[in-house]
Amino acid sequence: MKYQGFIFDLDGVIVFTDKFHYQAWKKMADGMGIYFDEVINNRLRGVSRAESLEIILERYEGEPLSAEKKAELMESKNTMYRELLATMTPADVADDVRSALKKMREAGLKLAIGSSSKNAKFILERVDLMDAFDAISDGTNITHSKPHPEVFQKAGEFLGLDSSQCVVVEDAYAGIDAAKAAHMTAVGIGDASGYDKADYKIQNFVELLKIAGIE
Ligand code: BG6
Ligand code: MG
Repeated sequence: MKYQGFIFDLDGVIVFTDKFHYQAWKKMADGMGIYFDEVINNRLRGVSRAESLEIILERYEGEPLSAEKKAELMESKNTMYRELLATMTPADVADDVRSALKKMREAGLKLAIGSSSKNAKFILERVDLMDAFDAISDGTNITHSKPHPEVFQKAGEFLGLDSSQCVVVEDAYAGIDAAKAAHMTAVGIGDASGYDKADYKIQNFVELLKIAGIE
């Protein structure tokens, strides 16, 4: 097989939590009288919680906010977000995604998560996918968020693989940039299936199995 490891972004690739991020940020923004819509929400894909807040605050016209106030805003957004995540069940993972992960593992490929989120493990537990991966690299083990390559470099290290052996599956432009900066092969899905920098552009996980050399 051409590749030995596959590193998956979580939000927008394995599960669709974008709507929950949007609802939670929207509540926070509305509470502060800040304009926020789904187009702005698209810019938050793949970037950290703190950077997401800064993007939302571009539209804020009040007095400058202290670091403490910003931390409070992120905390309250995260509380709302986790309440929404708590409603997730294993049915929130599409059948083709779950079965592709299983087939890839059975074929001897190493699988990892490469997510900017600090809630990654909580989400994986909710949808019963903790055991589907050999390693998890997430927002709790990085200091730089995508498009920085750190989260994928760490995932490759956790798997014991060289970057040339790894494929990253991403829905965010920032994630494709991060994968290329890590010298890995990048697969764009969803939003990122229209991104020129992706080495492969796919619509679904059946196409991913072909890239993996399984079907
Ligand atoms: C990424 C999402 O997976 O995680 C971003 O695409 C989000 O939108 C980031 O900002 C951080 O998530 P969390 O769960 O740590 O707030
Ligand atoms: Mg994503």
